[in-house]
Order: sequence, then structure tokens, then C-alpha cells
Amino acid sequence: MNKVDSSEKLSPIPAPAVDDIPVALRDTPQSSSQLLGSKQLLLLAGLGLVALTLFAGLGFAMLETRSVASRPVEDVPPATAEPAESQTAAATPSQANTLLGHFEYEEAPASELAPVSADGSIKMRKAAAEAFQAMQAAAAADGVSLVPLSAFRSVNDQQHLFFDVKAERGQTATKRAEVSAPPGYSEHHTGYAVDIGDANVPAANVSPDFEHTAAFKWLEANAARYSFEISFPKGNAQGVSYESWHWRFIGDINSLETFYKARGKK
Ligand code: DAL
Ligand code: ZN
Repeated sequence: MNKVDSSEKLSPIPAPAVDDIPVALRDTPQSSSQLLGSKQLLLLAGLGLVALTLFAGLGFAMLETRSVASRPVEDVPPATAEPAESQTAAATPSQANTLLGHFEYEEAPASELAPVSADGSIKMRKAAAEAFQAMQAAAAADGVSLVPLSAFRSVNDQQHLFFDVKAERGQTATKRAEVSAPPGYSEHHTGYAVDIGDANVPAANVSPDFEHTAAFKWLEANAARYSFEISFPKGNAQGVSYESWHWRFIGDINSLETFYKARGKK
């Protein structure tokens, strides 16, 4: 401190060291060149630059933290926001090709389908059919009777379900879409989705009452072991009514891509 360097010597007004200025005078509008030598100025400028860099870095870090916190839950890695078991949140429909909240799906080729019902009329993709039957056997061993009510549906089947039923009930398209996908937009086209009933409580088939059956409680606890998950949990982002009976297979790469890739999930 108090060293006078060459630039200070050249200065017409000798610059006192900052610490030497009486406190009452330190904020006077004297120019800094009057008070400081060029080396000190350089040092101060350098310190200022470092402070600015640190400040900017902190600003960016805060922005990044804020953007992660405000991302929709589905974009947050599972480690920080794990959805409840069997209540996998759907992604934001606006990220993909959707209609009235439903994603567009291709029809599974007939050659890829295998029966899951005794009479062979209800079919799923082979991998899904195998997993469903294994799940059915495990449930039966626990005294629970899972019954497939509807699985693969063609675009034509869905045409009837959406438009004809809508007309019969005098519903708007938006209202109908809360419980039924428009043709071309149903998970049932993929061969990976299945509506499940409890053989002992047929009155609860495809009804909110299914939630109170032993079959549903068993599924909630065990379906993930067979790579099945509920498609439309309560409060899903698609705006589709809660369907406790509608489950989908996500146990191979094709099914996983089918349901998650288009939704922006990485
Ligand atoms: N019930 C579901 C939404 C479907 O029709 O695919
Ligand atoms: Zn269904």
C-alpha cells in the first residue's frame, strides 16, 4: 500500500492511495484518474471484469434452475419427479400429432396379432399378448380373474365407436373425445392396449366402478411387473377421462417408442 509507481509520478496531480483519503471525501465527484494511478486502474478494471463474469455466471445458473423447475413434470428426469406407480403422467399432447387430445397411431398389421381371449376374437401384438397372458396367470394364482374386454381395434371399429355412438348420444366431438378416441387416434389400433375387466364383477366392466374391484387393485400392485401401465390416469395431460380399465403394454422398444417417442420424452 502507498507505493507510488511511475504512472503516478507522471500524473500532474499526485494521486493519494484510496486508504489515505479521509472517509468523508471518498464519495466526492473527483474523477478516478485523479485519485488512482493507471496500474491501480488496470487492477480495478480486472477485478471488475472478474466480478462481472462471476455475476453473469450466477445469473445463467439461476435461469437454468428456474427453467428446470418450471418444465412440465414429464420433462423432469425420474430422479427428481418420479410419477406414482401405475400413474404415469402423459406428455403434453401439443408436442405431437394429436386430435382432441388423442395421439395418432398406426394400425398394427394383422400378422403381428395373437389372441388373448378363449374364442380368439380379442387380439394383441404378440409380445403384449404373451405378457398379458402371463399377467392373467399370475393374477389367477392370487385368486383374481382378469378378463380382456377389448384389445386391438381397427380404424373402422373406432369409426363406429366414435361417430355412431356420438350421434346416438347427441354428443359434441369434444365431449365424445373425453371417453373415446377419434378413428386413427386410439391406442387400441396399436395392438398394445387392452381394456381389462374383473370376471367376478361384470357390472363394473368399462365403468368407473372397476376401480373398486379386486382386479384393479391387483393390477395397480402388479401390472408393472408385466410391463403394463394405465394409459389415462386421473388428471392426465391429454384431458381424457380417467379409465381405470384401459392398460397398455410398454415392455419392448416398439411399444415404448409408440407411446413415448412422439411425446417429447427422451
Ligand atoms: N377409450 C380410449 C380413449 C380409446 O377410445 O382409445
Ligand atoms: Zn380402452
